[in-house]
Amino acid sequence: MASVSVDEAMRRAIELAARGLGATSPNPVVGCVLLDADGEVVGEGFHAYAGGPHAEIVALAQAGTRARGGTAVVTLEPCDHTGRTGPCSHALIAAGVSRVVIAVPDPNPVASGGAATLRAAGVQVALGVRTQEAEAGNVAWLTSMRRGWPYVIWKYAATLDGRSAAADGTSMWITSEAARIDVHALRGTVDAVLAGVSTVLTDDPRLTARNLRDGTLAIRQPLRVVVDSSGRTPADARVRDGAARTWIATAAEVGAGPDGRVDLAALLAELHHRGVRAALLEGGPTLAGAFLAAGLVDRIVGYVAPKLLGAGPAALLGAGVSTIADAIDLEITDVTRIGPDLRITALPRKREG
Ligand SMILES: NC(=O)c1ccc[n+]([C@@H]2O[C@H](COP(=O)([O-])OP(=O)(O)OC[C@H]3O[C@@H](n4cnc5c(N)ncnc54)[C@H](OP(=O)(O)O)[C@@H]3O)[C@@H](O)[C@H]2O)c1
Repeated sequence: MASVSVDEAMRRAIELAARGLGATSPNPVVGCVLLDADGEVVGEGFHAYAGGPHAEIVALAQAGTRARGGTAVVTLEPCDHTGRTGPCSHALIAAGVSRVVIAVPDPNPVASGGAATLRAAGVQVALGVRTQEAEAGNVAWLTSMRRGWPYVIWKYAATLDGRSAAADGTSMWITSEAARIDVHALRGTVDAVLAGVSTVLTDDPRLTARNLRDGTLAIRQPLRVVVDSSGRTPADARVRDGAARTWIATAAEVGAGPDGRVDLAALLAELHHRGVRAALLEGGPTLAGAFLAAGLVDRIVGYVAPKLLGAGPAALLGAGVSTIADAIDLEITDVTRIGPDLRITALPRKREG
């Protein structure tokens, strides 16, 4: 087999890492490619699920003795601690790897230190290959580890005139089946799905990740969270159907903000504590407005349908904007056509002060 460059191996490792998205929390996604001394690929691995073997261990097992004198190319600094599995730094040293190339250092104080351990054992360590790409692949985990609360994606569906429901309150289904299938795939990549109690009272959604055609549930379900200050979620609401874990987050349990409603920062801190690294905020407009006003949204995914309603609630309410100068500026990072609809991905620009 032809030899590959370290850069090419890192590109592949990032691709492998992405296969674990949605299944590794509270751990990161990680990919690893092992090259022998001649630069041939002798092992590949990724972290597939929390508690399962780390990417390096999978790649080392494939490579066997061919790892000796070779290079391990990893998307994240190898861990240096014993959790549910042993330290990858030690496994790499034991396998006789002579060089380790890392895209991103581990921000987790519990697991970091792998690079130092490797260096101390005489292994060459290089940092910074395809760092931006690897960061992007692990953005939810890295962001949440660095600041201590989950990465929040606000997802909404709206008509071209920005309505999230009709004047009579009906909102199913604004977007096409293709867009809704895409939403279920998105749910499968996060650890929690959040909805305001009014959405639960109005639409009675299941909030599970499932196959829309036959209703089969995805193997891994996000935690369903109803943001419900005074516990108004009905006993027979579908979110209580047992199909997935559900948390009715009340102000009494989480803490209340100045308006007496659930304190959103405290809610996110508690979710982080429960192992949630990526959360999908599914509405409705009032809860989304409160999250945006508090600067707690990291990414916006809007599904825009080629429909007009002319009346009915806006996709977003009360985001703390009363004059154009206060508009929340966004950077659009992707526009994709999903069936007849558009999926627009955008990042809020950081506000001054
Ligand atoms: N098109 C879409 O993408 C989409 C998605 C979802 C929903 N919807 C539609 O949206 C409508 C419901 O939306 P909605 O705006 O009326 O309500 P909502 O955003 O679903 O829920 C708002 C409620 O959340 C509770 N809440 C708890 N803590 C809060 C906080 N810190 N800040 C704000 N709210 C907090 C409040 O009730 P308590 O004070 O009782 O806790 C509040 O009234 C429905 O018609 C639904 O069909 C559309």
